[in-house]
Amino acid sequence: MCGIVGYIGKRNSINIIFDGLKRLEYRGYDSAGVAVINDENEFNYYKKAGKVKELEKDFNGEILDGNIGIGHTRWATHGEPNDNNAHPHFDMNKHISVVHNGIIENFKTLKKKLTQEGYTFSTDTDTEVLANLIDFHCKTTHDFEKAVRYALTEVEGTYGLAMLCNTEPDKIIIARMGSPLMFGLGKDEIIVSSDAAAIIKHTKNVIYLEDGEMAILKRDGFQIKTINDVDIQREVQKIEYDLEQIEKGGFEHFMLKEICEQPDTIQNTYRGRINFETYDVKLGGLDSVREKLFNAKRIIITACGTAWHAGLVGEYMLEHYCRIPTEVEYASEFRYRNPIINKDDIVIVISQSGETADTRAAMKEAQRLGATVIGIVNAVGSTIAREVDCGTYIHAGPEIGVASTKAFTSQLMSLALITLMIGKHKGTIKEEEFKEIVDELKILPGKMKEIIGKMNEYKFVAEEFKDSLNFLYLGRGMNFPVALEGALKMKEISYIHAEGYPAAEMKHGPIALIDENMPVVFVAPKDDTYDKIVTNIEEIKARKGKIITISTDHDEEIKAYSDYTLSVPKTVDIFAPILNSIPLQFLSYYIASARGNNVDQPRNLAKSVTVE
Ligand code: M6R
Repeated sequence: MCGIVGYIGKRNSINIIFDGLKRLEYRGYDSAGVAVINDENEFNYYKKAGKVKELEKDFNGEILDGNIGIGHTRWATHGEPNDNNAHPHFDMNKHISVVHNGIIENFKTLKKKLTQEGYTFSTDTDTEVLANLIDFHCKTTHDFEKAVRYALTEVEGTYGLAMLCNTEPDKIIIARMGSPLMFGLGKDEIIVSSDAAAIIKHTKNVIYLEDGEMAILKRDGFQIKTINDVDIQREVQKIEYDLEQIEKGGFEHFMLKEICEQPDTIQNTYRGRINFETYDVKLGGLDSVREKLFNAKRIIITACGTAWHAGLVGEYMLEHYCRIPTEVEYASEFRYRNPIINKDDIVIVISQSGETADTRAAMKEAQRLGATVIGIVNAVGSTIAREVDCGTYIHAGPEIGVASTKAFTSQLMSLALITLMIGKHKGTIKEEEFKEIVDELKILPGKMKEIIGKMNEYKFVAEEFKDSLNFLYLGRGMNFPVALEGALKMKEISYIHAEGYPAAEMKHGPIALIDENMPVVFVAPKDDTYDKIVTNIEEIKARKGKIITISTDHDEEIKAYSDYTLSVPKTVDIFAPILNSIPLQFLSYYIASARGNNVDQPRNLAKSVTVE
């Protein structure tokens, strides 16, 4: 939710900032802007509604010359995404420049106070209020750092901030409360960013800022402090991935690349965690809570969006294979509904980015109530990963496409591994079945490759349905959340209205929607629910709905009921959601592409939602 980049060093900052902003654009892309301090200690800036490349096309490199600067790509919260509301923002005297990720909740009160002091405002944003507030404190302190500190003690809300002051042009000050921020240490230069993607090209040595901290960054060094002026020592960490992992590598879109990476990413999730000789599961990150997990009377899973769908599959897994009562909560609801949690409960938080504000707040609430909180996270070193009691990384690698794909299947794999670990220990998974599941793991990536190899089939079906106005997705058991996820993918990138339901729920209402124009996607593998779902398919067929089934290879029977079948290889039940999800990802991808949509950056969305 908004990307921040800053540069201080010997090179011209502008190209570094543009390059960084493009890499962070998945965080928000309503508008973008840059500000640099030039040799005369004046601000030169340019900001504009739209994408970074629009801004770059228009800007005049010479005017923006300077080796200290900040940039921003925005996902609007306060004020519509026009040129004026784009960041950076300035105080009315053009003395301070600020880029901001987050929300200043008491900005109206602060604005009133500053107005009484004679300040005027030219935008609708909360950020401009902060710029003026810093200027206000500069007037009395004559010290940029102190002014920032005083201003931040008055601010309520969340922020990741990078700030410049043209009377102290040798520093960038950054601060963090609730919105991620880090800086990379190069040779005689420092690069600030909301995440590692904008830094990795320049250095792999990074420092993460924690909540309540600020850092004063200069060409020759840095200082970290709390907002209350207490010095902090922090270790340098290494970014764990390479530049090529965040580039498209010849694919038309990141989403397509990420769908196709899944045979590898799934292996990265289980690599080193399964012993195929001894049939053991070891999740090192969960060592400290093994006994608690084995004795758990209740597990609560909390997450948002796609990660919440993974949690729903996890509920089926943990209840079916481990016999542990499991509940799944929307993180955004969990924190506000006074949940009944006690110290024996295990709470699992799932997050690709590790930065989702609602998920983080749910985690904190669970910790406050005394539960043990386990994270299933992708982004290494992210806020949630650092703040959970313990956890397991899914190791899917950077996911850039806004629509989550490979992270989803790796989240499912992580949940399966936890299930296997508990189920084996408790004996709720019989030895023979356990071995069958583990053996299946060895051939699962090959089966995923087979599914990916059928791109032309997905394209063909996508072409048939690209002009549909609605879609229904139906599944049963563990494949009901797969249906929900299929519908979410369709909605978010194709902008076609889509809903997921448990297949048998249709007859209780939604069946009224069925006519010859309604495509209905059934997730219908050959499992225990098969006969029931065939009956549900017949009910739709009788009402002339168009039926697309995700079926099991060689299932000839289901073809008779379906208008289109997209089949996947047979697998054990616990991995079926992983295989069944892939054709649904492709279907939404090809429909969105055929409609000419920006697949990687769908309208109104951002990759990580760091505001409530
Ligand atoms: O980073 P997180 O996994 O915490 O994100 C949660 C949701 O915002 C995310 O899954 C969202 O629903 C995706 N756009 C789905 O494709």
